[in-house]
This record gives sequence, C-alpha cells and structure tokens, in this order.
Amino acid sequence: MEHKIIVAGIGPGNPRYIVEEAKEAIANAKVLVGGKRALSQFKSIEAGQKTMTIAADIPGVLSFIDKELQENDVVVMVSGDPGYYSLLDALRRNYSAKKLQVIPGISSMQLAFAKLSLPWHDAELVSFHGRVPQEEKLVYEPGRIVGMLTDGKYNSHTIPEVFMAMGWPRETKLGICSRLSYEDEVIIETTLGEAKKFEVYTHCILVVTG
Ligand SMILES: C[S@@+](CC[C@H](N)C(=O)[O-])C[C@H]1O[C@@H](n2cnc3c(N)ncnc32)[C@H](O)[C@@H]1O
Repeated sequence: MEHKIIVAGIGPGNPRYIVEEAKEAIANAKVLVGGKRALSQFKSIEAGQKTMTIAADIPGVLSFIDKELQENDVVVMVSGDPGYYSLLDALRRNYSAKKLQVIPGISSMQLAFAKLSLPWHDAELVSFHGRVPQEEKLVYEPGRIVGMLTDGKYNSHTIPEVFMAMGWPRETKLGICSRLSYEDEVIIETTLGEAKKFEVYTHCILVVTG
C-alpha cells in the first residue's frame, strides 16, 4: 500500500484553533513530525508514536520521512496554514501532489486581520521572515493595506522605519499582533511614527493601513 504524507496545519498556537480533521490525523499518527513546541503539545506517549523534531536540518527531516513512508503514513505538523510559508514548500518539491494530503489550518495572518476587524481580500501579504519583500510590494499608495510576517531582525521597530523610508506617512495606522491565540496575546493599534513607543515585538504580524 502506498503511504502518504499528511501535512496538518495546527493554527497559530492555541489548540482551540485547530480543525477537527487535523486533530484526528495527529492523534491517529504512527509517525509524527513537527517543531519542538508542537510535539510537546500533541505527541501521544500512550500511542507510542515515533517522532522527529523539525529544526534546522531540513534534509534530515526529509530523509526521515522518506524512510518512514515505506511502512507508515507520516503526519507533519506545521504552524498556521500549510500553504503559507511552511515545510509544505519543500515537501512539494520532493513529492508529487498525490503523495500528499494537506489539512488547512488557521494562519496567524488570518487571525491578525480578524483581531483587527479588517477584511483582508484587498490586502498585500508579504513576509519579512528571513527575507525582505520586493520593493514594489511596499510602495506607498493611499488606502493600500499590507499584512506581514516578521522575524527577530525585521520587527515592530525596524519595519515601520522601512515603510517611512518608502514614503509612508508617520500617521499611517499600524496594527501589531503578537502571540496570537495565546493567553499573553498582544494587539496594539498605533501608527508607524509611534511604534517605537511600545516594546519591540518580534515574530509577530504587522498590518499597515495606508
Ligand atoms: C514561518 S512563518 C509561518 C507562518 C504560518 N504557516 C502561518 O500560516 O501562520 C512564521 C511567522 O508567522 C508569524 N506567526 C506565527 N505564529 C504566530 C502567532 N501566534 N502570533 C503572531 N505571529 C505568528 C510570525 O511572523 C512568525 O515569524
């Protein structure tokens, strides 16, 4: 029998935000792959699941999956939605679509827009997570909405500087959404010019509304 890789989105962090189908796939997994935090939250010791932690060694994770697929389905947990900056990208480069089953999750980006009560159908979505978006995605236009992933370097202090250098007015509205779905979640509505009055937030979502 051909085994599959089931890529399950686990949402922004709090288990209340995972869809039932992903919960079931994770609970029934014989082989479970995920980040350290996801594994400590979801691995079942009673079920005797075989696990592999996703860290920096992605080729190592891929060869573990390859080996395990000979005997079992492999469930890979990724944060948020698998289709949005996750290991699905590397898996799709190595396996055909029919070898994969993807279970969607609630993206941190979706939850940020929900928390700010903003529709996101017209928003430009970009990532500053380990990369810098193309300049044309950041050009100022009145009414333009940009949602972004961030990291340690590009954060709630440095990104507003990038936008203001691109001509966005200091008064432009900025939403800072940190630790979404967790008990210590922070949602701040401020402006690009005032962002530095708050502590620095890294690995969060920022939304600017021009
Ligand atoms: C590699 S990306 C993964 C995105 C994920 N696939 C998704 O759909 O949310 C990691 C980035 O997602 C954002 N992120 C993930 N979880 C978050 C949370 N609970 N609160 C705020 N931002 C979060 C941060 O910008 C973080 O640096």
